[in-house]
Amino acid sequence: MKILNFGSLNIDYTYSVDHILVGGETLSASDRNVYAGGKGLNQSLALARSGAEVWHAGAIGENDGHILLEILETNPINLEYLRILPGVPSGHTFIQVDKDGQNCILVYGGSNHLITYEQIDETLSNFDQGDYLLLQNEINEIPYLMQEAHSKGMKIVLNPSPFDEKIEKMPLQYVDFFLVNEIEAAQLAEGESDEELLDQLVKKFPDSHVIMTVGSGGSYYAHKTIREYHDIFDIQVVDTTAAGDTFTGYFLSSYLEGKNPKDCLRIASAASALAVSKAGAGPSIPTLQEVGKFLSKVNL
Ligand code: RIB
Repeated sequence: MKILNFGSLNIDYTYSVDHILVGGETLSASDRNVYAGGKGLNQSLALARSGAEVWHAGAIGENDGHILLEILETNPINLEYLRILPGVPSGHTFIQVDKDGQNCILVYGGSNHLITYEQIDETLSNFDQGDYLLLQNEINEIPYLMQEAHSKGMKIVLNPSPFDEKIEKMPLQYVDFFLVNEIEAAQLAEGESDEELLDQLVKKFPDSHVIMTVGSGGSYYAHKTIREYHDIFDIQVVDTTAAGDTFTGYFLSSYLEGKNPKDCLRIASAASALAVSKAGAGPSIPTLQEVGKFLSKVNL
């Protein structure tokens, strides 16, 4: 069984600010850093650092993509399906991080939006029935990817983030695992409470596994009649960027290793707590060893 993550790669220009800007306001940033990020890249890093073997497919720009290549090449990630495109900018973001570690992200798709049917066909020809395809919502041609992967018998894992109108046009009936936060869950289903939202998602997608994170409210797993929950780990928040991506990578890796859903929630919650305790996207994602050390010290 192989894991293919066909996903975005972004250069994150991250600015430390007192508060998130409001319309018409001008504000001085107290610091500025450039990190490798993008939901796709972050999730591949989380998978690799948690011990899973992952193939990352996507596209970066030749002129500015070196920061992305550097982090990918220094982690055990297979890159033969990553394309380096001349004459186009890599995907990039402008991120404000406020004094409480909360963020606000502006994304420019760049090379992430230049995925072709030909790249998809060529990449998928190397994967088979039972292999996993992980997707987020920061590249183009996702419906085609889902359609083709499904017809090969691949399992589809979707993190519908950032949520927009494109999600509703995707063949969501093919999704085997949804990894959503409570806001994305509320776009996909209706419910007053977290539990109700989860039940409605299960009703709408009766064969899918649903994993829902609720920020400080913990995380849930639901599949048919099974329900599991795990609380968050209390930690000093520095920067929440990539917390959800870390959770996704660690949950998937633990699940595919055969751990039970409750343990998967625990490991993914610990990994994402460690990610928010550090600045930046990719560089904040912990290794399995760091997660193990953290878990051995906490009582949850
Ligand atoms: O989920 C965090 C990521 O979202 C950042 O790294 C940024 O690139 C945006 O894609």
